[in-house]
Amino acid sequence: MAQFTYSRLRHVLRLSGNKRSVFRTGGELEHGAVCSGHFIRWQRSVDSKALQERQKQQMARGLPKQKPITGVKQVIVVASGKGGVGKSTTAVNLALGLMANDETKTVGLLDADIYGPSIPKLMNLKGNPELADNNRMIPLTNYGIPCMSMGFLVDDVAPIVWRGLMVMSAIEKLLRQVEWGSLDYLVIDMPPGTGDVQLSITQNIPISGAVIVSTPQDIALLDARRGAEMFKKVNVPVLGLVQNMSVFQCPNCNHQTHIFGSDGARQLADTLGVKLLGDIPLHLNIRETSDRGTPVVVSSPDSPEAEAYRKVASVVVQRLEEVNT
Ligand SMILES: Nc1ncnc2c1ncn2[C@@H]1O[C@H](COP(=O)(O)OP(=O)(O)O)[C@@H](O)[C@H]1O
Ligand SMILES: [Mg+2]
Repeated sequence: MAQFTYSRLRHVLRLSGNKRSVFRTGGELEHGAVCSGHFIRWQRSVDSKALQERQKQQMARGLPKQKPITGVKQVIVVASGKGGVGKSTTAVNLALGLMANDETKTVGLLDADIYGPSIPKLMNLKGNPELADNNRMIPLTNYGIPCMSMGFLVDDVAPIVWRGLMVMSAIEKLLRQVEWGSLDYLVIDMPPGTGDVQLSITQNIPISGAVIVSTPQDIALLDARRGAEMFKKVNVPVLGLVQNMSVFQCPNCNHQTHIFGSDGARQLADTLGVKLLGDIPLHLNIRETSDRGTPVVVSSPDSPEAEAYRKVASVVVQRLEEVNT
């Protein structure tokens, strides 16, 4: 309504201005000059009010109000600058590690990677979620962890082609339409990169902290830095960095080879200006158990690999306390 009035007003003013310049003569001139001064002041004030109104509307659109997810105490996002660095594997084993370290805690897992959901496979879950009485989706549960993923809602083989608004409404559904019950931690497996989906999630819900996963290769490091910087910009505390696959652990004798040097992880964290949360070895057991849908923290709890994930989980809890007090 405000814009309509404003544009009509401009139109009328433009017409009256033209008429004046065509018809104004002699004695009318002085009266016209006074009028046009009046008009200009009036127009300026209308202009600035309309501008303020437009800016207010834009701000409201650009910064949606953050609303907590019902029943969820703390949200931890697991992110990376690029795909294939072990983000989903880390998210799953972090969630299980949080629960293994303290069985009184309830933990959920949300797969926000709508382009390539991998939680169904990693957690060995299949099927469509049922609806609760309030019409919210009930997560599927395995190993004590309720999970939600776009993979439960779309066909396995269908390529997921999402665009603009569809992406946003899918994310909105995953954030708002799930009946989590009561959770101490919700771990969100983010899609790779620093695009619209990441921004939309960070703007929609309060996030207690971000865990950045990276491999030691240069290109991954640059991407990790971009990821960390995005979270800093939107005021999400960066809990730290998990360096994945930098140490090769022999499946036969457990001998560890630090392919990139034993101090690589710390240097990396220093370079990025974030804490090092831990080093996860490159281990056949991690890959195989992931492919089978039996994450290493539950299937080989006594292995050094599982220990590495539990250690990361306990540092994450420490960091959450540090950044949120
Ligand atoms: N520490 C590790 N040791 C061995 N294989 C790993 C490790 N971390 C991840 N992988 C494997 O690497 C591949 C990519 O991992 P994934 O978690 O899907 O990455 P992302 O979610 O970043 O795309 C998977 O096959 C996974 O099993
Ligand atoms: Mg993934």
